[in-house]
Amino acid sequence: MKIGVLTGGGDCSGLNAVIRAVTKSAMYHFGWQVVGIQDGFQGITSQPPNVHVLDLHEVSGILDRGGTILGASNRGDPFNYPMHDEDGKPLLDEEGKQIRQDISDRLAENMRSLGIKALVVVGGDGTMRLANRLHVEKGMNIVGVPKTIDNDLGGTDITFGFNTATQIVTDATDRLHSTAESHHRVMIIETMGRYAGHIALNAGLAGGADIILIPEIEWTVEKVAAVIKERRRMGRRHTIITVGEGAKPKGGQLVTHGKLVEDSVIAERLGGIGHWLREALEDLIDLEVRVTVMGHTQRGGTPTAFDRNLGTLLGHAAVLAVHDKKFGQMVAIQGTQIVTVPLDLASRTRPVDPDSEAVRAARGTMVSFGD
Ligand code: F6P
Repeated sequence: MKIGVLTGGGDCSGLNAVIRAVTKSAMYHFGWQVVGIQDGFQGITSQPPNVHVLDLHEVSGILDRGGTILGASNRGDPFNYPMHDEDGKPLLDEEGKQIRQDISDRLAENMRSLGIKALVVVGGDGTMRLANRLHVEKGMNIVGVPKTIDNDLGGTDITFGFNTATQIVTDATDRLHSTAESHHRVMIIETMGRYAGHIALNAGLAGGADIILIPEIEWTVEKVAAVIKERRRMGRRHTIITVGEGAKPKGGQLVTHGKLVEDSVIAERLGGIGHWLREALEDLIDLEVRVTVMGHTQRGGTPTAFDRNLGTLLGHAAVLAVHDKKFGQMVAIQGTQIVTVPLDLASRTRPVDPDSEAVRAARGTMVSFGD
């Protein structure tokens, strides 16, 4: 039997551990052949398909590598696919708008002609939504593996990639403490995380931030300024603020890059709240405020042991799920158990619980949430 594996959406730490575990488990347990599909679903929809058989040599020595050896893409929804000409230029209609077509049948047909009987799809909420539609509407045999640094997917307690991202922000925060203290500055660290504050909360807590601003807890600039002034009164002349990119002040707007990435499954690109906050604070306090935007550093580099192992556990479980024909399901971790849950659970986002132990511990150790 031949199965396929692809990685969709943004990259994150632990993807290579999944690819390795899927390939090794399929070959070793069941004697199956594993086909690696390049660049997410685009590898199957392209003419000819961009796929190749994975062997032990190719998946050896990749546990410690960031990114994905298969490439990833968060563009090209097969149900609403942007069409291009032979030179790769967008095909436009009479009004100058990009022509889009439903090419999901081509995707299912290509899978059949390649002899791929089942597909392990590794991805975030957007990719899992597509995987679920392909399963329900096109009858494709799909098992999902949830991933994202944002840690905000439903159906699973934790996603791989999150632990490494949190460690990277924590390391950066450790380094920023010294300049903050030496120069008596306010240092703002902006994290990724999209509409959830898991990275900001956990890295802020681990890095000893004084103020943590997340989308799930409403905050005001006035309160943030008051906390900084109060710290100063207590002899603390520096302040560390960790802010998640999706955080917005009470009554305020999300800060985004402005331009939508039209081809993308999720078109909005967040970022910029750190600089917005700096400008707003500089009107209210007389300390220098500086901003560090963590950006894509959070997705790269060496995966932590936790993310490698979670990737390995889920990759192995995905192969067992294919064997048991648990299609339309995704593997997940709940407590200490690896389980399977319906694919569509991934698209129900799991925000930070404002009453969680982590938030309570932060508040209890003098961290302000700006509320
Ligand atoms: O979902 C993962 C994530 O890294 C988010 O935290 C971030 O908002 C987004 O992807 C960035 O996407 P891109 O790499 O396409 O700019």
